[in-house]
Amino acid sequence: MLDRLARLEQEAREAVASVSGLQELANVRVRYLGKKGELTTLLRGMGQLPPEQRPLVGQKANALRSTLEELLRQREAALKKAAAEEKWERERIDITLPGYPFAAGQVHPLTAILEEIKAIFIGLGFQVATGPEIESDYYNFEALNMPPDHPARDMQDSFYVAPQYLLRTHTSPVQIRTMELQAPRLPVRIIAPGKVYRRDDDATHSPMFSQVEGLAVDRGITFADLKGTLLLFAREMFGPKQRIRLRPSFFPFTEPSAEVDISCIICDGEGCRVCGQTGWLEILGAGMVHPQVLRAGGYDPQDVTGFAFGMGVERIAMLKYGVEDLRLFFTNDLRFLKQFR
Ligand code: DAH
Repeated sequence: MLDRLARLEQEAREAVASVSGLQELANVRVRYLGKKGELTTLLRGMGQLPPEQRPLVGQKANALRSTLEELLRQREAALKKAAAEEKWERERIDITLPGYPFAAGQVHPLTAILEEIKAIFIGLGFQVATGPEIESDYYNFEALNMPPDHPARDMQDSFYVAPQYLLRTHTSPVQIRTMELQAPRLPVRIIAPGKVYRRDDDATHSPMFSQVEGLAVDRGITFADLKGTLLLFAREMFGPKQRIRLRPSFFPFTEPSAEVDISCIICDGEGCRVCGQTGWLEILGAGMVHPQVLRAGGYDPQDVTGFAFGMGVERIAMLKYGVEDLRLFFTNDLRFLKQFR
């Protein structure tokens, strides 16, 4: 009997050692310690032993039971630990691994310039107004004091989409639209950024480009207000040493009218290739709002005055970034765009 116990122990130890999973281990437990297990079955045979041997065999059998239970517990703990470690290895995140390269976007250089322009005028109390890109002849020309056959229409060769409708050639129609909505309330103080269209196409002209219109209407607005506003704009945009120059000009919707130059940002007025040796760079048109235009907007030119201006956004971007071909802004070549990071 003692031999059989010893053999059973040997067998059980080997069985426990050879299992590779928790389920197998549970089977081993049942096989040796279960109600119909080997140890239990063996102990049933105790009755046939001579009485004096029973205590010793009983003792050994109980010791074996405890030994096996302890063995099973240890094996179970070891298997669980191994499983947990294996799971950790399989699922762990290696925080030392470099991240995937992530391509950060950037705003288009024209958008950046436009945002700068807007911020400057918003800072001066202007609000941002918009209007449609398909415009009627009335708003694009007539209300701006350019009746049919007016020679000034020739400067803005247009894309007509219907007899009385065209792609707007400038942002000036937003002047009329804004005044119509707001009259007779004062003051009017808006900028109107947006796309405009002309039949033009070369290194400095594109059939689609962007302008920012400005309009201020109130009692007692003078040419000095216009000049001060534009000087401040030039200094915010191009640097505190900027000077501006106003040359007499003509626009049907302003009187008097001016072309506005800034001192050359390359040579500071000395004369260079960029400014064509003049020391000045033209950046916008401006003037005092024509009485006819105020009237078309619903204001009384006897009561109020106003100034207006219009600038080309691409032109300002070209000057500020030193870009020589305007078309680069629209062809979306990444080699060009990536230079503005
Ligand atoms: N609309 C003009 C153009 O596109 C620019 C302009 C000139 C706008 C003078 C104005 C202005 O508001 O006062 O050529």
